[in-house]
Amino acid sequence: MNFLVDAYPWIKAFHVIAVIFWMAGMAYLPRLFVYHADAAAGGELSETFKVMERRLLRGIINPSMIAALILGILLIVANPALMAQGWLHAKLTLVVLMFALHGMFSKYRKDFERDQNRKSARFFRIINEASPLLVVFIVILVIVRPF
Ligand code: HEM
Repeated sequence: MNFLVDAYPWIKAFHVIAVIFWMAGMAYLPRLFVYHADAAAGGELSETFKVMERRLLRGIINPSMIAALILGILLIVANPALMAQGWLHAKLTLVVLMFALHGMFSKYRKDFERDQNRKSARFFRIINEASPLLVVFIVILVIVRPF
């Protein structure tokens, strides 16, 4: 336990680093879906997008999400009094929405991989705004702590 308290600033620093990579991937993946939705299924362009989406999800988004989660939980274990604070309750509620979005993106990627995507480029343009919007509210909650 003392180790976690001593290492707290390092754990928080790596939590934020992991979050940055996770959010970068969450903003980039639906952008690929926008262009992929207009590419002919089975064509060279669509096959290239499949490789890019798979590598982005498995190589960056999933690992950084897991790191952000584990480091975030370690911060709570090291400082359990945080769990009494309203801003963290609200933050974690928005983080659950971020996980749901992550899950949706994983499903859309699988649909594209099987040439079974039925969503339009316009749909992906709209859903592309969701993660940045969540980030704005999460960061305000964790830095400003309005309640
Ligand atoms: C995945 C689940 C997450 C958990 C369990 C979690 C938990 C935490 C905890 C306990 C802290 C420490 C607060 C303190 O020391 O006072 C923290 C800090 C922080 N979190 Fe998260 N977090 C998660 C996801 C996120 C996400 C998705 C974002 C941004 C989009 C984020 C942004 C931040 C920032 C910027 C800080 C540093 C705040 C400061 O400097 O005091 N976290 N997080």
